[in-house]
Amino acid sequence: MSTNSSVGYNEEYARSVAETEKYWQEAGKRIDWIRPYSKADGSSYAGNVQIKWYEDGTLNVANNCVDRHARVRPDAPAIIWVADSEGESLVISYEDLRKNVNRFANVLRMQGVKKGDRVTLYMPMIPKAAYAMLACARIGAVHSVVFAGFSAESLANRIVDAESHFIITADEGRRGGKRIPLKETVDEALRIARMDAKVLVVKHTGGDVSFSERRDVWLHDVWGTVGTECESEEMSAEDPFFILYTSGSTGKPKGLVHTTGGYLVYASMTHERIFAYQPGEVYWCTADIGWITGHSYLVYGPLANGATTLMFEGVPNQPTPKRIWDIVDEWNVSVLYTAPTLIRSLMAAGDRWLEGTSRKSLRMLGTVGEPINPEAWRWYYEKVGDSRCPIADTWWQTETGGVLITPLPDTAPLKPGAAMKPFFGIIPDIVDENGESVPQGTQGRLLIRRSWPGQARTIHGDHARFMETYFSAVPGAYLTGDGAHRDVDGDYWIIGRVDDVVNVSGHRFGTAEIESALVAHPAVAEAAVIGVPHPIKGQSLFCFVILRDGYQDDEGLIAQLKQQVRADIGAIAVPDDVVCVPGLPKTRSGKIMRRILRKLVAREDDLGDVSTLVDPRIIEEIKTALSLNRQV
Ligand code: PRX
Repeated sequence: MSTNSSVGYNEEYARSVAETEKYWQEAGKRIDWIRPYSKADGSSYAGNVQIKWYEDGTLNVANNCVDRHARVRPDAPAIIWVADSEGESLVISYEDLRKNVNRFANVLRMQGVKKGDRVTLYMPMIPKAAYAMLACARIGAVHSVVFAGFSAESLANRIVDAESHFIITADEGRRGGKRIPLKETVDEALRIARMDAKVLVVKHTGGDVSFSERRDVWLHDVWGTVGTECESEEMSAEDPFFILYTSGSTGKPKGLVHTTGGYLVYASMTHERIFAYQPGEVYWCTADIGWITGHSYLVYGPLANGATTLMFEGVPNQPTPKRIWDIVDEWNVSVLYTAPTLIRSLMAAGDRWLEGTSRKSLRMLGTVGEPINPEAWRWYYEKVGDSRCPIADTWWQTETGGVLITPLPDTAPLKPGAAMKPFFGIIPDIVDENGESVPQGTQGRLLIRRSWPGQARTIHGDHARFMETYFSAVPGAYLTGDGAHRDVDGDYWIIGRVDDVVNVSGHRFGTAEIESALVAHPAVAEAAVIGVPHPIKGQSLFCFVILRDGYQDDEGLIAQLKQQVRADIGAIAVPDDVVCVPGLPKTRSGKIMRRILRKLVAREDDLGDVSTLVDPRIIEEIKTALSLNRQV
């Protein structure tokens, strides 16, 4: 909404794609290397798909995120931690951070964790979670952070898949005044996983938890026994850095593997360029460390840049929707990076919560995780930012490691709801079902034609699945799973997922994983799950189930089925609607026609082509079941 021209961006973008190797060689210098690289891009999307960046360089992430800043600005604040309970906070300087990370790394070494070992984190949003991540980085262990809202079952699956024999957790977490059992969930997960593991436990709330002398170690018992100096591991750029699980359209969640050098270059560069981060500013990303946004833009990107990153333990709109603005004012937050779902819920709560707050410190706003509707965008721009602060609507994914499509400070004018321009070096395209590029204005599948340093390298233990999922549909390109179109100015508009992935409040769920949770209940013979529009969450999960003989469709059973999903996946996956139906619309080959289910829920009269439906009578029966649905 400013009239700046895009000349600077256009010129740099053109250079970044014309002379990619040179561009990324130069960009790589923003971080400290132990042994410099001789080449930037060693990737190939052909054949076996190999993604490699800065391959012969060596480095350590913790040195880059901590030590190099502690040396020159030891007292500069690295992390501002704001507790769930109002009035409680902690400012951690770069020197404090260095000592804490080193101690934590020494503890891990003392417990036998070695380079390459997978360490699972199931942690609340407390500084020790960041220390733990950076401590793993320091000693070359590969962390797998599991969002602390996932159930024991989900945690167990991730522990087993990562073959992780070391878990870091806390007694309990705190969110919105509630205590979240963490240690108890880890105990349960290890029972399910039947794995031998060591558990390092942080005392956070002091809640009463069970403790196994054989298996568990309290962090505070060993903290004082180690020193604050810890030699860092020299890592190859392509050594695995972390695994992060995310849902896809089929099968179990995938453990995406990110490696060390390229990831850090990309996370730090995008953080600085997109938010025009200036030293001394306070930057707040509201994402949890359990998601990629928490990795790249709460911890690694900002800390690599020597920034001050604010970490909030609680829920930004609790106890009231004013909390978020109070934190902005109290800590003079310059950049706020959050999700559309939160913006919509704040907007729905009414403007009165903004009254009496200043928000003058804000310079820039960001959003991520799902498409932002223009109405929410305008509210964010006009009301929160007082029409002063540009909004970066950043499109990216767990797989991409960092932002790929976004406005940059000199790509104005902004358009509410558009993700705008490719970041430097990124070559997006939009194609039809046959993989042919579509004309401007036509919606199609979004893909990326060339690798970038932050891209995930593989799926842990399953490279064939990696190639099949992302590189088989259009050979030579990375398929994102999203739909998009490009307007006359060449700006990108993201529509959302075009595969069987549902985005609920910015969290990804595969319809297949929800369906398998439902059919695990003895009452359910078959299930079909779709995403339907939701005013706050963006999408919500709508489930159709066919009951087995002898089971009755009643409120008690519906509650049990929702509970089944909660136990299997976690509270964030609980469906809004579960409707019992006598049958599902299927093709002759047995495929469920979700398209028809979506139209039926939307009460659309025109169901499109139904000629392939085996039993058209089922439509009327589903309509009847829907008309009786009293949930939501
Ligand atoms: O559908 C897109 C949506 O979130 C998906 C990626 O989810 P995840 O891997 O969990 O990462 C979320 C945080 C990076 C994408 O495939 N998405 C993310 N950002 C946007 C978005 N959709 C529209 N606009 C965005 N800005």
